[in-house]
Amino acid sequence: MKKDNFYITTPIYYPSGEPHMGHAYSSIIADVFARYKRNCNYNVFFLTGTDEHGLKIQKAAKKNGLEPLAFCDKISKVFKEFSKKLNLSNNDFIRTTEKRHYLAVNDLWKKLVKSGDIYLSKYKGWYSVSDEAYYNTDEIVEKNGKKFSTFSGSQVEWVEEESFFFKLSSWQEKLLQFYEKNEKFILPISRKNEVVNFVKSGLKDLSVSRTSFSWGIKVPDNNKHVIYVWLDALTNYLSALNYPNIKDKLYNDFWPASLHVIGKDILRFHAIYWPAFLLAAQIEPPNRVFGHGWILSGDEKMSKSKGNILNPIEIIDKYGIEELRYYLMKEVSHGSDGNISLKSLENCINSDLANNYGNLCQRVFSFVRNNCDNKVVNSDNLSDSDKKLIEQTKFLTKNLDGFMNDQNLNSYIKSVIDISFLTNKYVNDEEPWKLKKTNIEKMNNILHLALEQIAKISMLLNPIIPKTSTKVLDALNIDKNLRNLKFLERKNFLNKKININELEILFKKIN
Ligand code: MSP
Repeated sequence: MKKDNFYITTPIYYPSGEPHMGHAYSSIIADVFARYKRNCNYNVFFLTGTDEHGLKIQKAAKKNGLEPLAFCDKISKVFKEFSKKLNLSNNDFIRTTEKRHYLAVNDLWKKLVKSGDIYLSKYKGWYSVSDEAYYNTDEIVEKNGKKFSTFSGSQVEWVEEESFFFKLSSWQEKLLQFYEKNEKFILPISRKNEVVNFVKSGLKDLSVSRTSFSWGIKVPDNNKHVIYVWLDALTNYLSALNYPNIKDKLYNDFWPASLHVIGKDILRFHAIYWPAFLLAAQIEPPNRVFGHGWILSGDEKMSKSKGNILNPIEIIDKYGIEELRYYLMKEVSHGSDGNISLKSLENCINSDLANNYGNLCQRVFSFVRNNCDNKVVNSDNLSDSDKKLIEQTKFLTKNLDGFMNDQNLNSYIKSVIDISFLTNKYVNDEEPWKLKKTNIEKMNNILHLALEQIAKISMLLNPIIPKTSTKVLDALNIDKNLRNLKFLERKNFLNKKININELEILFKKIN
């Protein structure tokens, strides 16, 4: 990995049904970090895609009367379209049915065989098709004669079949050492503790192949077995960089991954199995796994089976993608579960976007248009309230990079929206409209500072609401090459004379 490069991934989605709000949430979080790092002048590679093998997909295809590949072709396209609808800035979209992925999985498997970490035996135990996960007996409960995982609530079935195993048990100590050495490998810390406790309680060897169905990548030199879908799927992070060609530029530039963004339900796979596979294959593990919480509706995880779905496409069509992106990032607390509803979405649009940021931009732009012929020139004669606003803004921006580097998006957004709030208050208190006849110099200074604040806030909000913030930066005529966070650190980063263009209404208030 080259310095100043940043490799970020979303989970690759099961194309077993329509994309839902949980998918949108995971993807947007990753997109925000990708855009943020680009704005910090990093060279970013952002990956998303679809996870197309395994029993879950085979069953879904059958239900739809299609061959698995034809089914995946169809639904993977839907996810690709969805990523455009979310305005993701991904550099690639990987499908696990592609040849490049097959090559990577084959190579990784062979490395694990060579290192002595894979052996043949028989699996006897519980399996959840919906999670594509094995569970221990103490993780199962019975309800109405059926068995369910206590971890995910999904139904499990008893499986007994010949299987290859990965010697996960022998990696227990090395994983614990790895977590200790890489303190922030798993964030938030509460999730890290969960993982460490689970590993400390003892790891059993992991079944990594199945023989009772065929939809997957065949075990090299053994056609009877298909590779366990999680070993297959996790490898996508390598295949997108053209692994096993370790001389490839992408691989050299971007491995190890900087950040895997995932939901808490798939933490075990990313924080335990994945580093264990990689350590066994002598490949450096990623730098960070960030496990976000669930989107809830009421107190429950939003899911089709529970019928509590807010459909992301309908919401985007009705309210707009920028509005949805902002709402999800602001509302769901760092790493915790978050309750979402139409009512709180509308409140958030009105309070933060329409009344706060949108209103600040609109009122300052229209005042400058109507009273200053679209031009503002400032002087060095700053008032105490100008200085106070500059200091308050400095204070609020001080921790922003730290928040982003710890994936603490809500604190980041809260600070930025506070800057917007303070700037609105400053404009209210300073009443530039009263100075037109009495003190033009002061009026211009107030407007200039307000426009600088708007530029700053727009740049900081850019990863979250890229389209709207770009409209504002365009209307401020800021050179595209200067639109980065380094530029913001400069004193007086806007010219002494600012020329503005027309700015359309940014956010409509919802009544
Ligand atoms: N295919 C696996 C990931 C393999 S990555 C090597 C998978 N796919 S998924 O489509 O089921 O889920 C994708 C992501 O969406 C996961 O991070 C999951 O946590 C997230 N969400 C699915 N439902 C969710 C909510 N209701 N809330 C928030 N995110 C949840 O898992």
